[in-house]
Amino acid sequence: MKRVKIVDVLKSEDYGKEILVMGWVRTKRVSKNVCFIALNDGSTINNLQIVVDVNPEVEEILAKIHTGASIAVTGNTVESMGSGQSTELHSLNLEVLGQANPDEYPLQPKRHSLEFLREIAHLRFRTNTFGAVFRIRHAMTYAIHKFFNDKGFYNIHSPIITGSDAEGAGQMFHVTTLDLENLPHNEEGKVDYEEDFFGKATNLTVSGQLEAELAALALSEVYTFGPTFRAENSNTARHLAEFWMIEPEMAFYDIHDNMDLAEEMLQYLVKYALDNCREDLEFLDKRRTDEQKNKPQNERDEMGLIDRLEFVVNNKFERLTYTEAFDILRNSKPNKKKKFVFPVEEWGLDLQSEHERFLVEKHFKKPVILTDYPKEIKAFYMKQNDDGKTVRAMDVLFPQIGEIIGGSQREENYEKLLNRINEMNIPQEEMWWFLETRKFGTVPHSGYGLGFESLILFVTGMSNIRDVIPFPRTPKNAEF
Ligand code: 4AD
Ligand code: MG
Repeated sequence: MKRVKIVDVLKSEDYGKEILVMGWVRTKRVSKNVCFIALNDGSTINNLQIVVDVNPEVEEILAKIHTGASIAVTGNTVESMGSGQSTELHSLNLEVLGQANPDEYPLQPKRHSLEFLREIAHLRFRTNTFGAVFRIRHAMTYAIHKFFNDKGFYNIHSPIITGSDAEGAGQMFHVTTLDLENLPHNEEGKVDYEEDFFGKATNLTVSGQLEAELAALALSEVYTFGPTFRAENSNTARHLAEFWMIEPEMAFYDIHDNMDLAEEMLQYLVKYALDNCREDLEFLDKRRTDEQKNKPQNERDEMGLIDRLEFVVNNKFERLTYTEAFDILRNSKPNKKKKFVFPVEEWGLDLQSEHERFLVEKHFKKPVILTDYPKEIKAFYMKQNDDGKTVRAMDVLFPQIGEIIGGSQREENYEKLLNRINEMNIPQEEMWWFLETRKFGTVPHSGYGLGFESLILFVTGMSNIRDVIPFPRTPKNAEF
């Protein structure tokens, strides 16, 4: 018999049918003549209740079944009398696929802390919370490809190993096959990368943008969706050393077109989750509300998860310049009362998450897009404004998250780009191919990067970025 997924069993109202299901036992309850097993196979957050008539023959099998065991059950579907479920399965045949010793199995049916679950990341998929998070993560991956495909964008696979530092921030992981205990040196006494695998120094990419630009300057509208790596030594709830980024890049788009696309995309993705991940979101919403009860009144969310998602779908984002935001922040109550860790005094300050969240959560009370940042705090490739001080950057700021998207219109003028590269001491010989696109048929173009885990944090309402990627990579941590 072919196995049926539990999600389909629970949806069907075709009672009295004999079917086969398989999954992992969440709980087992035995009363006198009957045993109830809650079975989950990951196809839905809901468990299927298995009802087993207890007799001496079955008792022997039941003795082997505990929380965490995997079983196969053949039985008849019956309309459930219990509340909260539609269908249950009356077992005809029960088989244990794999036992789980209750003295050793760490996931008992009780509430475990997220910190503890991170230590058993190989098993945490089996909890309601992580089941919900990773089903939503999948749905968002699909929705991103669907959004761009429906608009005629092409997905480009940018390289993971590169020889350039796209963001110029120098937070790269080296890639080498050189023997670190015995490095070859050149005449100047420096490490001789000519002897390395690629004949030059290489690293894991921090962004696929530069390569996406090359493709956009031929295919018009493209996007990448791949892993990126940053050796930022920041142990925060918002940073990963390995994270996924979506980077659309569009020829003939100015910064306004860029903002329109970012806003449309984010609203599309959040709406997709609301329409397609309802049960998982309802679970996470309730989970977050319970979690909030342990917090002091003034730190609690004003909105529940689903309300917040609906709010983002239904309200236009606020758009203003860095300079306007800077004035708001400088004159704000928390700044005057010295509540910010980083006081807002001098124009040019790089905005911190506390500033971004003030603007979004307290001042505008909706998502915000900031543009035209000081050039000193932004990457070399951004289009320079005529004021000589600012660039056509755009950051999208979200409640709970802060910056969820960073992007810009790109500098398409060869001379200006070259000047900036030199000003910032970026080795020109590493950038010759990037510069050539400005020599041959250059056009105005724009793009941005959406941090995939930042998006998943927002949609799931989880608070730590380590809990929205299956196997987080952070300083001093690469287990699993
Ligand atoms: O603002 P960032 O650094 O932009 C770029 O990399 C550009 N090349 C994008 C582009 O224009 N094509 O990063 C973009 C987003 C951030 O807004 C944030 O959501 C996420 O990537 N991000 C991180 N997420 C997790 N861990 C980290 N260490 C992150 N650094 C950035
Ligand atoms: Mg940024």
